[in-house]
Amino acid sequence: MTAAPKKVPIPRNGIDYRGKVVLAPMVRSGECPSRLLALKYGADLVWGPETIDKALIGTTRHVNTVTNTVDFTRFSSNGAKNPAINADQRESVIYRLHPEREGKRLIYQIGTSNPETAVQAAKLIAPDVAGIDVNAGCPKPFSTSGGMGAALLKTPEILCSILRALVTEVGEPNEIGISVKIRILETAGQTEALMRSLCATGITGLTVHCRTTPMRPRERAIRDQLKMVANICRESGVACLMNGDVTSRDEALGLVSEFGCDGAMIATAAETNPSVFRPESQGGKAPWEEVVKEYVKTAMEVENRWGNTKFLLGQMVPGKHQIYRAMTHTKSYTEAVKALGYEAVMLDLARKVDQALEIGEYDKPKLTKAERKAANKGAKVSGKQERAGKEEVQRTAAGIKRTAEMAELDMPPDIARDSGPASVPEQASALAV
Ligand SMILES: Cc1cc2nc3c(=O)[nH]c(=O)nc-3n(C[C@H](O)[C@H](O)[C@H](O)COP(=O)(O)O)c2cc1C
Repeated sequence: MTAAPKKVPIPRNGIDYRGKVVLAPMVRSGECPSRLLALKYGADLVWGPETIDKALIGTTRHVNTVTNTVDFTRFSSNGAKNPAINADQRESVIYRLHPEREGKRLIYQIGTSNPETAVQAAKLIAPDVAGIDVNAGCPKPFSTSGGMGAALLKTPEILCSILRALVTEVGEPNEIGISVKIRILETAGQTEALMRSLCATGITGLTVHCRTTPMRPRERAIRDQLKMVANICRESGVACLMNGDVTSRDEALGLVSEFGCDGAMIATAAETNPSVFRPESQGGKAPWEEVVKEYVKTAMEVENRWGNTKFLLGQMVPGKHQIYRAMTHTKSYTEAVKALGYEAVMLDLARKVDQALEIGEYDKPKLTKAERKAANKGAKVSGKQERAGKEEVQRTAAGIKRTAEMAELDMPPDIARDSGPASVPEQASALAV
């Protein structure tokens, strides 16, 4: 009789990655509407974009009754491009999730280099998600210079201490799983040694991106270490997701059985068309026209920042199509809905969302430089006074109203880095995370 395969127990509120085809963490491209769409088309689980621990620490959790989302928000001391706005509106959404539609299928990915701050941040969001995943694969200097991302692959003792701290101080009390996403190292021996340490930390899952740290996204993924990685995971009872150049659910399932992994993760193919999660037996990948329409509707339902929606539309609409050119001139949901020919079904909603976000025809007139300077001074003082006297939760409990300027921001510059996860300006598609 053969013994049952070893399995690190999956906590009550956690989720087993085995048998799953999942949406990868993607800065900018993995915001709430993108995740909802991936789930609609059959993704089993979705990873949120990497959000660094320090960005989440200090946020307040709000239930947004307008969008039915849970928003983690924070004030920006100098974040608004238009400082004339009042302190209420200086609140930025750092992380938005949809409990009803994402439910316990959302994994929060954290960027960190420190067990204490990792635990502090993860505790805030743990009750709202099915798991916490540590990013140990981002090769960009903004991540590695802070000791995060792929830098952790060179400091396995720090990475393991982060994972152990998350397992005991966040995973166990909240009964959720902790996992890690890595890249392969230069040699199989190096990867094997790393894997053995990681698998002994109490994690329930591990994703391996089959590229080394110096490899660019356009270079083909290398799968010659994959069987070894999958074997170590199986020996240790840790679920193993493979990642790199997986383009559809059906292909994923074939690769999973070929390499002996437990599941697969898809990034760029799903960024362009999230219906890649739909099996061929149910129609497979949908035409971009259908997906774009669903995306616009979903983005409006959750009042997604216009800048982010426009960016994603740029990924989904083929560059050569006339719609693409028409889209580049749009500045609001109303204009986009018109450019895309959805007036009959979406115009009312588009106007409502533009009004809520104060964009397009509801945009506020811009201040001159001198006016901005004067207003910034005043806003700093009044913001401080107001905060001192009021509970933050009360102020925005009915929903978050933000200006067009705020709608363009992922996070206030006081905590944003030049470019990187949880900061907007970068070209996310150029990331080689
Ligand atoms: C736009 C974009 C943003 C990404 N952001 C993250 C991230 O936040 N965290 C992470 O671990 N990997 C990130 N990645 C890497 C992907 O999760 C994935 O590992 C990589 O793209 C390889 O998968 P693919 O071949 O299916 O694209 C990002 C990739 C892209 C294209």
